[in-house]
Amino acid sequence: MSISRRTFVKGSLALPVVSAAVSGCGNDVSAAPIVDAEVNDDPSSSNYGKIEIAVPRYPDLDAVGGAVMLRLAELSPGTRPFDVPPLGVLLVHRSTADDAPEFIATRADCPHQGCPLGYNKSAGLIECPCHASRFLATPSATDPTMCVGKVVHLPAQDNLTVYEVKRLGDFIYVNLQVDQSCGTASNLPAVVNGTITVRWRCTVAAERRRHGHRQARRPQRQADDRAHRREHHQLCVRDLHAQEVHDLARARRG
Ligand code: FES
Repeated sequence: MSISRRTFVKGSLALPVVSAAVSGCGNDVSAAPIVDAEVNDDPSSSNYGKIEIAVPRYPDLDAVGGAVMLRLAELSPGTRPFDVPPLGVLLVHRSTADDAPEFIATRADCPHQGCPLGYNKSAGLIECPCHASRFLATPSATDPTMCVGKVVHLPAQDNLTVYEVKRLGDFIYVNLQVDQSCGTASNLPAVVNGTITVRWRCTVAAERRRHGHRQARRPQRQADDRAHRREHHQLCVRDLHAQEVHDLARARRG
């Protein structure tokens, strides 16, 4: 597609979209409408590996809660530092500019059996119309494991691949070279003075185990159980050295 800024005029005619025509038997959601797009395949370009989209040209995407499936033109055979997903990219206008991430982009095909995905605006989830798999579209502010693309409903077992999205005026750029999926280093919190502060929901018992406490004797254990129930969802905070987090992320990716 590749719409240059010179030729794009804001407010120009909206481009048509094609229905993916997947009827649901699981979730009450339809596959996102299809928009044709291109990946920049010029290695000398600063936009190499990116998909450029002029948001106002697609009413299905321009409104908060809208979503489209970017059907990507086939590239010539060759080796590249990125993969082109077979069904393209699901692009969701998740929220407003002051509630990041405003846009999210994932693979458009469900990891279960490859159906095209859609966005359920009222649930705030990416959903599969075929067998009801669901994935997070909003990351948790406190739990780094609950990130965009995380599978939260079977039968899919794997998380979605998530791509970096950047906005420049009316254009957004989906970068197939930057993988921001759960467990990758790029979706972890920022490094400050060589450490990363990680917060997650935990239990008293789990924290005791982590600190190497031995099994308590009975009266103490009962008191612990009561405290456990009371504080079942306390917030744990831990500073990790950046290298330690990098190693954990790599191990999680396998
Ligand atoms: S193909 Fe998506 S849940 Fe089965």
